Amino acid sequence: MRTKVIAGNWKMNNDITQTTELINGLKAALAGKSLNATVVVCPPFTSLGTAQQLIAGSVITLGAQDVSLYDSGAYTGEVSVGMLKAVGCTYVIVGHSERRQYHGETNEIINQKAKKVLAGGLIPIICVGETLQEREQNITDTVLTTQTTGVLAGLTAEQVERSIIAYEPVWAIGTGKTATKEQAEQAHVVIRSVIASLYSPATADKVVIQYGGSVKADNAKELLSQPNIDGALVGGACLKADSFASIITAV
Ligand code: PGA
Repeated sequence: MRTKVIAGNWKMNNDITQTTELINGLKAALAGKSLNATVVVCPPFTSLGTAQQLIAGSVITLGAQDVSLYDSGAYTGEVSVGMLKAVGCTYVIVGHSERRQYHGETNEIINQKAKKVLAGGLIPIICVGETLQEREQNITDTVLTTQTTGVLAGLTAEQVERSIIAYEPVWAIGTGKTATKEQAEQAHVVIRSVIASLYSPATADKVVIQYGGSVKADNAKELLSQPNIDGALVGGACLKADSFASIITAV
C-alpha cells in the first residue's frame, strides 16, 4: 500500500517573512486534522533554514527544488546534497520541467542528480512529462518511456522503490489546464509499466507516482482517487495555506 505524498513546490516565491507566514498558516490549517498523506514543502534555498525551524514537531516535512551534481568545491551558485541534508531536507525535486526548459537539464543530468540524492540518503522527486506539442503528435507514451528509462538508468531496484516520480504534463503546469483524471491515470499506468519492465512488477508497485500540473482544491479529490495516482506536486495552489491544506485533506 503506497502512502500518498503531497508536495508543494514554491518555486521562486516567498522571502523569509512570507515563508514564516505560509508555514504558520499551513500548520494552523492542518492542526487537529487526521491526515492520510505525507506533507512536503519545497521552499527556495534561502528559506530552508527558516522552514526547518518552523516545521519542527509538525507533520510537515522539507524538500528542496534542485541540487548540485557535485559534493563541494568551485561550483558558484550550487547547493550540495550534504547541505540540503544538514538543513533538514528529506526530499529533493530533480528535473522539474522548468529546469529542463530554462537550464538545459537533460535526462542524463537528472539521472545523475537523482543518484546523488539517493546516495546521500534523501528522496528524489523525479519529474517527467510531455509538452503540448508531443501530446498533440500522439507521442506522449514514447516520451514518458524515454524519460522514465533515462532518469532511472543505473538505479538499483531498492533505489527506485525509494524514489518518487512526478508526472507533470508541461502543458498543465501553471496554465490552469489540468489533465483529466483519465489522461493522468493513463500516463501513470505507462510510467508504472515502464518501471515494471525495467525492474519488476513488485518494484513498480512500490513507487509513488505523483501528478502535477494545476492541481487545486477542487480537482485534487478526483485526481487523487485514481488507482495509480499516489499524490500531487503542487505549484500555484501551494502558495496559500488554505488551498494547500484543502489538497492535503482531499486525500
Ligand atoms: P502548478 O505547478 O501547480 O502551478 O501547475 C506544478 C509544478 O510545476 O510542479
